[in-house]
Formats: sequence, C-alpha cells, structure tokens
Amino acid sequence: MPVAHMLEGPLSVDVLGRQDPELAEILLGELERQSTTLQLIAAENFTSPAVLAALGSPLANKYAEGYPGARHHGGCEIVDVAERIAVERAKALFGADHANVQSHSGSSAVLAAYAALLRPGDTVLAMGLPHGGHLTHGSPANFSGRWFDFVGYGVDPESGLIDHEQVRTLARTHRPKAIVCGSISYPRHIDYAAFREVADEVGAYLIADAAHPIGLVAGGAAPSPVPYADVVCATTHKVLRGPRGGMLLCGSELAERVDRAVFPFTQGGAQMHTIAAKAVAFGEAATPAFTAYAHQVVANARVLAQGLAAEGLAVTTGGTDTHLLTVDPAPLGVDGRTARGRLAAAGMVLDTCALPHPDVRGLRLGTAALTTQGMGEAETVRIAVLFATALRDESAGRGVREEVRDLTGRFPPYPAH
Ligand SMILES: Cc1ncc(COP(=O)(O)O)c(C=O)c1O
Repeated sequence: MPVAHMLEGPLSVDVLGRQDPELAEILLGELERQSTTLQLIAAENFTSPAVLAALGSPLANKYAEGYPGARHHGGCEIVDVAERIAVERAKALFGADHANVQSHSGSSAVLAAYAALLRPGDTVLAMGLPHGGHLTHGSPANFSGRWFDFVGYGVDPESGLIDHEQVRTLARTHRPKAIVCGSISYPRHIDYAAFREVADEVGAYLIADAAHPIGLVAGGAAPSPVPYADVVCATTHKVLRGPRGGMLLCGSELAERVDRAVFPFTQGGAQMHTIAAKAVAFGEAATPAFTAYAHQVVANARVLAQGLAAEGLAVTTGGTDTHLLTVDPAPLGVDGRTARGRLAAAGMVLDTCALPHPDVRGLRLGTAALTTQGMGEAETVRIAVLFATALRDESAGRGVREEVRDLTGRFPPYPAH
C-alpha cells in the first residue's frame, strides 16, 4: 500500500496488524481512501505526522481530572507540563488572557460556554439552523434547543449575508442573555464588532463559535473574535490542523467560570494525548509556514468559487473570504443530494448544506485539506472543471475519478519524505 510508510514504527499499525489484522486493514483502508480521493469537506484537514504521533502516544493512558497542579490523580507531573504548554501556546497564538484546552470537541466547548454564562431557560440569539447555525445553536434534537430558549437570526435570501438589522431587531425584542455568532457554512468574515455593539446595547454576552475560522485566525487570514467576544469556542481540527477537539478562549475575569464549566461541570478526565497533540498543532500554527498555508487556503477557496461560478453553479454570496464556500448545483440540472452522490463516485468527498433559499439543499466545500496536500491555484482551477464535469454528466464520473486519482497521487497528504 503506497501510504503504509505513515504507520510504521513501534507504536504503529505493524503492531496492530500482528495482533488484529481486521482492524489494521480498516486503518490502512481509510488512509488509502483519504489519500486517493479529494477531501472537500470544509470541516476536515490532514493533521501532521507529529500531531498523529502525540495522539497515538502513551499519554492516552493517563487519567488527569482537574487542572495542572490541581489534579485528582497522582502521577500527573509530566502531563501537567503538556497542558501548560498547550495553554500558553494557545494564549500566545490568539492573544487571549485565558485558554482552556480540555474540551473534547467543538460541541463540548459550546456546552461549556453556555454552562459558564447561562442558566437553563435563558434566551439565546444565534444563527438559525436553516441558515447555517450549528446543532449547538438551538437544534431541538440537541441539549441547546432543549435547555435554552433560542431565537434564530438569518441571512438575507438575496445576498446570503448576515442581516445585521434583523439581529438588532431580534435582540431588542427578545433581550437575550447571550448572542452567538458563528456558523457551519457562512463563507464570509463575521463582523464581530457589529455583534459586540448589539450585545452591548441589550446587555447580552457575546459568544463567538469560531469552530470554522479559528485556523484562519491563527494564520492571520481572518479577523479575530478574541477582542470582541466574552467567550470564544472553537475546534482544534478543521483549518487549524490539530487533533479532533475543542478549546475556549476568554478574558481573565471569566477564566475561573469557564474552567469550572469544562471540569467538573460538563467533563471528567482530560484527554492528555489530545491535549499534547493540540500543543503540537498550536506550535505548528505559530510558524510562518502556517501563515502562508492559511492565506493559500483562502486563495484556493476564492479560485474554486470563481471556477465553479464560471461553470454555471450558483455560489452563495458570490464568493468567499474563508476556507469554505457553498453552492447550488441546480443550474447544472442536479439537486444537492444527487450532486453529492455523483461527486462521491468521481472521488470528490463533500457535504450537502442548507442554502439561504428555504428547502434547497446545496453543497459545502472547503480547501483546507487540499491546501495541506500542497495544491495551489492551478490545481484548484482544474478541480472546479472536474467538479462541474462530474455533475453535468454522470457517465463522465469514471474519467474524473481517474484524474482525481492522478492528482492526489501527485499531492499525497503524507509523503514518504
Ligand atoms: C460552528 C460549529 N460549532 C460547533 C461545532 C462542533 O464541533 P464538533 O463536531 O467537534 O463537536 C462545529 C463542527 O463542525 C461547528 O461548525
């Protein structure tokens, strides 16, 4: 298998293969899938081998409830150092007074932010789910919708841009305890100052759910919510390229509340291997190479948006400022779900998503992963053409699949040095 070199070594799939070939086969099969298809899911990326090494390390064995210097378990003196490094790197990277790096996921970080600032039954104003809000922004299927009274703002159906007048009107009417800004599919920069102004006017906390843009913030390619939000929640995967996980940033006045909201209120033992991997990723994100990467991610996304528009797809807001874009494939004669299937058959993996027009499923794409592979504007221009070719004509899928295999072969996510 061409990518098997990634998993060599004493703590590797070699060992797993001898003990449990069935599972080893699955790991290698997934690595092969990721390496031979195009990962266009806007929330995904390829972590570095160093991040993977931390994740697969004996730190996974350690129980460490509490915080460095104040643990409920013995033997934490070494993992304490890992967590302190992660916290210091996160604070420096984002210019925050305080960082909590223990959240197991982005959703856990949002839960902790609510736990720190709200009481059950409080009113919260957030982007409505049909417009791009996350499950944790008030879905009735999620704790957020069950325990809080969510009011949803939206995007303008014509421009696709956040309707700040609507945000202000809803805030004045409902007097929320908190306003959440952040989305799973908004392709433009969030105007944090505008949200702060409304929050101040109605006396609400501002929570920025920066799960998506936080990696661009780290690389200086998107504005930072840190100076504006009371609490910033984020994921450490996605553009940031760390392990799957979450984190919270806040000012020192809320530090204790946020820490207590994570542990012991919503979580138990910290996952020290993941925290060490977060530290590795923060270290990587502080380098000039990552700054260049973040800007290239945006340049590629812009080129992809232009290319898809030129092929006739309807690009929401006419383009993007970030790593993601959403498109309606209807002008090419296919709906979102059919399109996703055709693209999958052609080796392009992505999600469907809500669009500003109610009841229309579009497609959400991102350029974080392909940029990590080293693809630039020239490759992205070609990807737009392949994308539209696979959509227009189902029978062209096989040819596109071959070209995708060739492209990904030239830009392996984990090259053998
Ligand atoms: C805006 C937003 N918030 C929260 C999350 C939740 O992250 P996780 O899947 O790690 O729980 C996501 C994930 O995509 C997201 O986009």
